[in-house]
Amino acid sequence: MADLDDLREGSRFNTDIAVQNQAFHIKGASHLGWGMKDRLTRIFNAKTGKTVMLAFDHGFIMGPTSGLERIDLTITPLMEYADCLMCSRGILQTSVPANINKPICLRADAGSTILTELNDNVVIDIEDAIRMNVSAMAVMLAIGDPRMEAKTIANLFHAANQGAKYGIPVMGVTAVGKDMERDSRYFGLASRVAAENGANIVKTYYCEGFSNVVAACPVPVVIAGGKKLPELEALELCYRAINDGAAGVDMGRNVFQSEYPIAMIQAVHAVVHEGLDANKAFEMFNDLKK
Ligand code: 5RP
Repeated sequence: MADLDDLREGSRFNTDIAVQNQAFHIKGASHLGWGMKDRLTRIFNAKTGKTVMLAFDHGFIMGPTSGLERIDLTITPLMEYADCLMCSRGILQTSVPANINKPICLRADAGSTILTELNDNVVIDIEDAIRMNVSAMAVMLAIGDPRMEAKTIANLFHAANQGAKYGIPVMGVTAVGKDMERDSRYFGLASRVAAENGANIVKTYYCEGFSNVVAACPVPVVIAGGKKLPELEALELCYRAINDGAAGVDMGRNVFQSEYPIAMIQAVHAVVHEGLDANKAFEMFNDLKK
């Protein structure tokens, strides 16, 4: 245990200074091996350094929620527009066409509908992840939760150990509990803990002061979309996140619960990769939905 006496909160984030000593297009990846770099490059575009991940893993704890009742009808048509697909093993093997040729970020921890029991030190066997040729494994991290923090860190640590052996990156997914603050102090803590425990990518939420979260996290940060917002607001969220240093989005409901999900994912893609502002992207969305 570190000496906690006079522990001082960080304040020197220097968000205006670019990352130093980076010889690869993905933050924190310069010293990784070829396999890791190749898999990360399948997720993060080599020209823009960014990604649009489509998340449809919600069913692993929530069952058939809105938009995910029939993956074949609602999600399959969106796959070609995403840079990476994030889903559970059960959905990958049953519902994602094996010739889709998209990198997979596999939900690698075990779900439970009783959230306090989630992820009880169980992650997928690395051999199965290799068999499915995944490009990354995603593991939840419940920082600040007295029941789940240690177990979920153990999961992440284990996945990172296994991933390191075979060149498979790990994405740490920071959870948000009912009683947890959704601020840059919390997300900054959770993101940094994820990276220092072995995550090669961090997925978290956008918040005020997000640029501090990104600056203090030594690996790429992508944002979750969260609950469904009107399309313009969701595009504003994407724009602000990218502007504040996010390396992309890993979005679910704001895409597949839109009435026009194909138009929406293309508009998100333009914000992430082309830097379109939210109003221009919303115009694009309106044009595409016609
Ligand atoms: C939860 C997740 C989900 O994939 C995440 O919440 C993304 O979906 P949405 O954009 O709908 O919030 O990782 O652990």
